[in-house]
Amino acid sequence: MASAMFTAPCGVRSAEGADCQNYVGLRPNTGLKFNASVTVKTAMNARRLFAVRASEKRDESIKKLGMTDAECEAAVVAGNAPDAPPVPPKPASPAGTPVVSSLPLSRRPRRNRRTPAMRASFQETNLSPGNFVYPLFIHEGEEDTPIGAMPGCYRLGWRHGLIEEVGKARDVGVNSVVLFPKVPDALKTPTGDEAYNDNGLVPRAIRLLKDKYPDLVIYTDVALDPYSSDGHDGIVREDGVILNDETVHQLCKQAVSQARAGADVVSPSDMMDGRVGAIRAALDAEGFQHVSIMSYTAKYASSFYGPFREALDSNPRFGDKKTYQMNPANYREALVELRADEAEGADILLVKPGLPYLDVIRLLRDNSPLPIAAYQVSGEYSMIKAGGVLKMIDEERVMMESLMCLRRAGADIILTYFALQAARCLCGEKR
Ligand code: PBG
Repeated sequence: MASAMFTAPCGVRSAEGADCQNYVGLRPNTGLKFNASVTVKTAMNARRLFAVRASEKRDESIKKLGMTDAECEAAVVAGNAPDAPPVPPKPASPAGTPVVSSLPLSRRPRRNRRTPAMRASFQETNLSPGNFVYPLFIHEGEEDTPIGAMPGCYRLGWRHGLIEEVGKARDVGVNSVVLFPKVPDALKTPTGDEAYNDNGLVPRAIRLLKDKYPDLVIYTDVALDPYSSDGHDGIVREDGVILNDETVHQLCKQAVSQARAGADVVSPSDMMDGRVGAIRAALDAEGFQHVSIMSYTAKYASSFYGPFREALDSNPRFGDKKTYQMNPANYREALVELRADEAEGADILLVKPGLPYLDVIRLLRDNSPLPIAAYQVSGEYSMIKAGGVLKMIDEERVMMESLMCLRRAGADIILTYFALQAARCLCGEKR
């Protein structure tokens, strides 16, 4: 049961506000209580009799009251209806409330929001642990090292910490992870060749995870920045230009190496042109037709990536990423990327960052039938954490709301550092 995906019906809590349970109500224990009464006949014939009833209160309510249905109906027809509680009195308004005649409204949208149960009935979007992909930072060390700019996140030792963290996530229904490696500086080169070392950190971690958890869905990051001595996603020419086609060549080798280790979904986050088609062809040529590609379709040159780059020590040595990542001012351009990715065979389209780019998520949702992913990036995570620590916002509620908003905008899956915390919340666990 450890990796069960909770699809239990909503157990509506009466508590108001952005309570976790208001989002999906995955608590298996609220609402209907099962009363299993088990009779075991240990007689000589050793026949066992199991009687399982679905409610504990039913027994009393079906006991005979003495009148037949016809007698009851006759009594009512004769004007002797049994008593029922009176209509409750109208609640008083505070003194000073103006006395007005009601507005002649044909539509009062508040009617459908009156009670928690009604709100739950009309909720348009749901959030479930199955929607989350958990990004995990890994390193060669034995210990888990806290990441200063991302409270609650660690660089996990790939042999122990990683395995434990994934186990915890599976316990609450999160069965998808994406791996980001912190590569030793000594292995970084201008061409990032460590990216396709079959015995590198990522392939080793994939093999270990698949050995432990064969049904885990493993996403990988395809880009050169963790392996590049320049900290760029591609190979840098001496004049500072990021080479496109040469980089794509490396990315293909990287993706194939990850697929060989057992990756389920390779995710190019580099924003080079033509990489999805080239990676598809490279995977197919090596017999990895079953491996999916999640393309970072609209990845913006965003300042929200700061904490991530600290986590991996992957800040570009010079310049910025604006010649390959998109201009945050641009919307239509996302459609150009969308068309290319669709034509090149992407299986999933990703928008990054998440919350500041809800319009772009909606744009892709409305223009493609493919699954859409949103990446709630490090800066978004850290802002919510910091606001919570400073008691300026309610961390848990803001977390759940932000994730719900990404779903509402059109994301099928969400890459989020909150995956474990949010899934625990959805399962009714508080830590
Ligand atoms: C790099 C990569 C980045 C992130 C994921 N992959 C950073 C960057 O583009 O500089 C950012 C994720 C985050 O901020 O949470 N290929």
